[in-house]
Amino acid sequence: MKIVHISAECYPVAKVGGLADVVGALPKYQNQLGADSSVIMPFYNNTFTRKHNFESVYNSKIHLGYIEYDFDILKLSTQILEFDVFFIDIPTLLYKDYVYSNDDTDRFLAFQIAALDWILTLNKKPDYIHCHDHHTGLIPFMAQESYKYSALNKIPVITTIHNAQYQGWFKYHHLYKIPDFDNNNVGLLDWNGIINPLAAAIKCAWRITTVSPSYMEELMINANGLEGLLRAENAKAVGILNGIDTEVWNPETDKYLIKNYKVSSNQSGKLANKKWLCTEFNLNPEKPLFAFIGRLVGEKGSDLFPDAFNVALRNNDISILLLGSGDPNTEERLNALKNENEGRYNNFIGYDERLSHIIYAGADFLLMPSRVEPCGLNQMYALRYGTIPIVRSIGGLKDTIIDIENDGFGFVHKEASVNDICYSIERAVNFYKAKTELKKIKKYIMQIDHSWGNSAKQYIKLYKSITTN
Ligand code: ADP
Ligand code: GLC
Repeated sequence: MKIVHISAECYPVAKVGGLADVVGALPKYQNQLGADSSVIMPFYNNTFTRKHNFESVYNSKIHLGYIEYDFDILKLSTQILEFDVFFIDIPTLLYKDYVYSNDDTDRFLAFQIAALDWILTLNKKPDYIHCHDHHTGLIPFMAQESYKYSALNKIPVITTIHNAQYQGWFKYHHLYKIPDFDNNNVGLLDWNGIINPLAAAIKCAWRITTVSPSYMEELMINANGLEGLLRAENAKAVGILNGIDTEVWNPETDKYLIKNYKVSSNQSGKLANKKWLCTEFNLNPEKPLFAFIGRLVGEKGSDLFPDAFNVALRNNDISILLLGSGDPNTEERLNALKNENEGRYNNFIGYDERLSHIIYAGADFLLMPSRVEPCGLNQMYALRYGTIPIVRSIGGLKDTIIDIENDGFGFVHKEASVNDICYSIERAVNFYKAKTELKKIKKYIMQIDHSWGNSAKQYIKLYKSITTN
C-alpha cells in the first residue's frame, strides 16, 4: 500500500506545532505495519535543510496564472529518517526562514500544484493521498476537477483536519491561479462568498478525519462556520485519536534530558530535571512545579494565565514555569508577572525544543486549559514523562485524560476560566501532599500506552474501507 502524506510541517524537518509531530510519526508507524508511506513538504530555509545534503529527483515548471515557476523535487542524499521525505523546492516562494507568513495563498497553491504535477509523473502512483490541514486543502478539489481526466482522479484523497479554526481563506481575484477546471463547479471552492480551501477539502476529499473523536463531535456544532458543511458530509467523517512517537518521546533515552529515567527510577530522574529547571529559572525545587508549553493564543486559553497565575501564586505555595510565544499582549502581561513574582514564576518567551523536553520531565503538573483542543499532544507527552496533566474537558483532552476523582490520573475542569484553572491547581496542590498516592499515579501514567501503533492501524483500516471503481 503506497501512501503519500502532503503537509506544510513534518518533524524533525520543520515544526511549528503538533501537525509536525503527527506527520513526522504517522508515516513511520505506517511503514512498520508494512505500508510504503512517505511525505511531500515544502523546502524551507531552516536549520535542518542547511545541515543536510539534498539531490534533485525531478524538475519541472508550474504556472500560477501567468507566472511560471521552476521547481525541483529534492530528496535527502542519505536516508536519515524512517520514511522518505520529498521536498518541493520553489526558491522564490517556499525557500524562506519561516513556515507560515502572509503570502501563503501563492506559496501553498504553488506547493499543491507542484505536488500533484509530480505525482502524476510517477510510474508507481500512490494508492492514497493523505492531506493535512488547509495548506493542502485544494488538493482534493484539484485532483477531482483540474486533473479530472488523469490518473489523479482515481486516487482516493483523505484530508485530516488538525485544526478547523484556520481555513486558508482567499479572495476570488486569485481564482485564475488554480489550474483550469469546469467553471460550473466553482461552488466547490466557495464558502460564504470566499474561496475556502478547508471547506473545499471537506466537500471533495474521499474521507475526512479529525485528530480525536470528541473534536469531530464538537465540529458538528462549532467549526468556525463549517459546522453545517461537516454535518452534511458526516457520512465520510471519522475521528481518529493521534498517537505519540514513543521513540522520540521516551524519558529513558531522550537525548535532551538532564537525566534519563524509567518507571522505576522516575522519582530521582524527574527530580534531577526539576532541579536543573529550578536553577535555570530561579525557582524553588521543594515546591510543586506547574508548567505550560505552547502557543500563547486564545485557543489554548493562555490569555487567562496572567490572572490565573496571579491568584494561584497568591493562594498556594507553588512554582510556575511557562514556555511559549504568541499574542504580544499576553507575553507582556506574563513578563510583568515574572518581575512581580521573582523566585516563584518564570517564563521563556520563544520556541525551544530542548527546553520543552526538560519541562515535560521536570514539572510535576502540566496545564492545558484550552478553549479548543483538536487533539493535543502535550498531555500525552506529559503522561509518558510522569507529569500529571491539568486539562479542560474538551476535544482530545477529553478523550485522553480522566479526572482523579473518577479513578483517573489527572485534573479535569469544565470551563475555560480563571476560577476553574485555580480550582484545579488547588486540587493538584492538595494531591501533591499525598506522597504515596502521588508516587503511584506518576508510575501509572508513565505506562499508559498512547503510541502510534493503534492509530496507524485505524488509518490503514480507513484507507482500505474506501472502494474505488
Ligand atoms: P498545537 O499543535 O495546537 O500547538 P499540540 O499539543 O498538538 O498543539 O502540539 C504542540 C507541539 O509543539 C508539542 O510538541 C509541544 O511540545 C510543541 N511546542 C509548543 N510550543 C513550544 C515552544 N514554545 N517550544 C518548544 N516546543 C513547543
Ligand atoms: C493542531 C491542534 C492540536 C493537535 C495537532 C496535531 O495543531 O491544535 O490539538 O494535537 O494539530 O494533530
